[in-house]
Amino acid sequence: MSDADGASPTGAALSRRLAEDLPVMVALRAVIDRGDMRALLGGALAAPAGDLALAVLRGAGVVAHGDGAQWHLTPEAAALWRRDGPALEARLRFGLLAAADLIQHGGALFSDSQGFVARAATYGFFRYARALGTGAAQIEDTEPWVRYVAALNETEAPVLAPLVSLAGCRRLLEIGGNAGGFALALLARHPGLQATVLDLPAVCHIGARASAAHPAAARLRFAPGDNRSDDWPLEDGGAPDAIVFKSVLHDWDFARVPEILSRAARHLAPGGRIFIVERGPMQAEPAISGLSAATNRVFAPFYRAPEIYAGLLAGLGLVPLPPQSAVLDMTFHIIGAEKPA
Ligand SMILES: C[S@@+](CC[C@H](N)C(=O)[O-])C[C@H]1O[C@@H](n2cnc3c(N)ncnc32)[C@H](O)[C@@H]1O
Repeated sequence: MSDADGASPTGAALSRRLAEDLPVMVALRAVIDRGDMRALLGGALAAPAGDLALAVLRGAGVVAHGDGAQWHLTPEAAALWRRDGPALEARLRFGLLAAADLIQHGGALFSDSQGFVARAATYGFFRYARALGTGAAQIEDTEPWVRYVAALNETEAPVLAPLVSLAGCRRLLEIGGNAGGFALALLARHPGLQATVLDLPAVCHIGARASAAHPAAARLRFAPGDNRSDDWPLEDGGAPDAIVFKSVLHDWDFARVPEILSRAARHLAPGGRIFIVERGPMQAEPAISGLSAATNRVFAPFYRAPEIYAGLLAGLGLVPLPPQSAVLDMTFHIIGAEKPA
């Protein structure tokens, strides 16, 4: 199958298209929802040549129509789907949800962000309250958004983990570490490190299952809990010498953040470090465009300047570490500070 210019799309061009091209995204979601992906991957979907969703996907180089009216994924799409299918699907679904919110309620985002938050469906996707237990239905309700967050982390961790300076640290506590992807990236870089992820019970259940086969899994522990309680875990009986919050604090009203950070500062071993990894304010981005920007645009009211977090850590008596940043889909800041020994 070919792109408009007649060339086959590369895997990168194809995955960009699946995040940016609305008709293609909607057609792909329809094909997934009607259960056709398995047959497409197997190279044998029997469907009428006039099928509109498949026609849209054919034009984008996702599917092709073989002899005998059988449809199949193009080699590029099949390779992409085999490698990253669950992550692509999670991004596709959330991308469409965020885009729908922007189209329906976007005006409020510019004038009345609280009104936007009240109306947007996006936030309802993250059903944290359902993750407080580990019943089968709670796990089922938690899985879709955990999968989406884990998919984002797959792109973020390779760039951000090297910027979290854990040299000499032995015991890491990651608050809200989701399915453990970022902790595993840190463990892979630091062979002497043990890590604990404190997250909601259903999230920990999913994370323990998903990370079991990772080479560093033996050094990762999940601690089901709630970061609002004072009962933060110890590692081998010792206080952590590093505590990481990645893409967690923007979830909390600003009024709650000092309390969370001061709990972290108390829990941290003397000489230990706190790292906050967060996207910065969207207003500071040089360009905000494209459909895929919708997924961050809906969170724009919650992203804060790195100086705000640095100020809170300094106010707790921690000594700032050199600030770091990296540009991914937006600018991420790594704000670190050390507790005096
Ligand atoms: C936006 S996600 C970020 C996940 C992960 N750190 C990452 O960057 O990929 C926020 C995480 O905080 C967790 N969380 C929300 N409320 C929590 C609470 N009260 N206690 C512990 N974790 C919580 C969620 O379950 C989720 O995993």
